[in-house]
Amino acid sequence: MRISDTTGTDLGAVVEDFDHTTASDSDIETLKQAVYTAKIAVLKNQDLSPGAFLDLGRRLGRPETYYEPMYHHPEFREIFVSSNVPENGKQIGVPKTGKFWHADYQFMPDPFGITLIHPQVVPEKNRGTYFIDMGAAYRRLPEELKTEIAGTYCRHSVRKYFKIRPHDVYRPLSEIIEEVERKTPAVRQPTTFTHPVTGETVLYLSEGFTVGIEDGAGNPLGDDLLRRLFEATGQLAEDLVHDNIHLQSFTRGDLLVWDNRSLIHRARHTATPEPTVSHRVTVHDAHPLYEGMRAA
Ligand SMILES: [Fe+2]
Repeated sequence: MRISDTTGTDLGAVVEDFDHTTASDSDIETLKQAVYTAKIAVLKNQDLSPGAFLDLGRRLGRPETYYEPMYHHPEFREIFVSSNVPENGKQIGVPKTGKFWHADYQFMPDPFGITLIHPQVVPEKNRGTYFIDMGAAYRRLPEELKTEIAGTYCRHSVRKYFKIRPHDVYRPLSEIIEEVERKTPAVRQPTTFTHPVTGETVLYLSEGFTVGIEDGAGNPLGDDLLRRLFEATGQLAEDLVHDNIHLQSFTRGDLLVWDNRSLIHRARHTATPEPTVSHRVTVHDAHPLYEGMRAA
C-alpha cells in the first residue's frame, strides 16, 4: 500500500496497491489515519463486486444500513445505490441523490464517521463530487461569527430532502410529513464539536439538513444567523465556486473514502443528466460523532 498526498489541492490522498483481502490490521489503521488527516482518500484500481466492496467497508467499521429500503442494493442491503440507469427495465436504488450540501446521516441521532463511495457508471463530462472541509471553513470564519455561535446548538432534519417513495403515491402530503417527523424527528447537535480523532474543531451544519440554530437553553437564534453561516462557508455559492469548495473527480476503479464528520458534500448537478451509478457503504468507526455525545 502506498499513500501519497494529492499535490496541488487542499484535500485528499491517493492510495495505491491496496487490497482489503490481504491488508494487515496496521495497514487498515494507516488507511484510516490518512482518511482523518487528508479527509478524502482515493483508493485506486479497486473494481470490486458489491460483496467485496461491503467486505472492504467492514474492515473500516460497522456498516450502517440506510433506513429507507428503496435505496438498498437488491442483494446487499448495507449498500446504498444511487442510480439513474435501470437494470432490465427496473429502477435499482434512487436517482439524483444528494444534490444539496449535507453530511451523510446528519439528521439521525448517531451519524457514522466514514463514507465510502464506489462509482460504477462514471459520467463522461460532469463527473465528481463537491466537498467543503468544515474544519477549515470554521477556522476561516470571522472571529465575531465564531463568538456568536459559541455554546450554540443546531437542529438537523431530513424534511427538506425526504424523497417520496413509490408507495407514497396517492397518500396525502400531510400524512407523509407527519410520518417523516415521527420517524425522524429533528436532532440537536452542538454547532461545533471536537473531532474525536484529529482534535480539530468542526462546524457541523449544512444547508440541506440544518433547519435551526438555538442557544444552550433551546431559544431559537433565528434564520439569519444560519444564513450567514451557510454564506460564509460557501454553501450558498450558486455557481459552486468558492475558496472552500473542492471538486473531487474520480475515474472508473476509484473508491472514495471520506471523513463524514469533517466534510459536507454535494453531488454534481447537470442540466442534461448523464448515466451515473454509484454504490455507497457507510461505517461507524470506534468513536461517536464527538466525544461526550450522549448515546442515542
Ligand atoms: Fe451524501
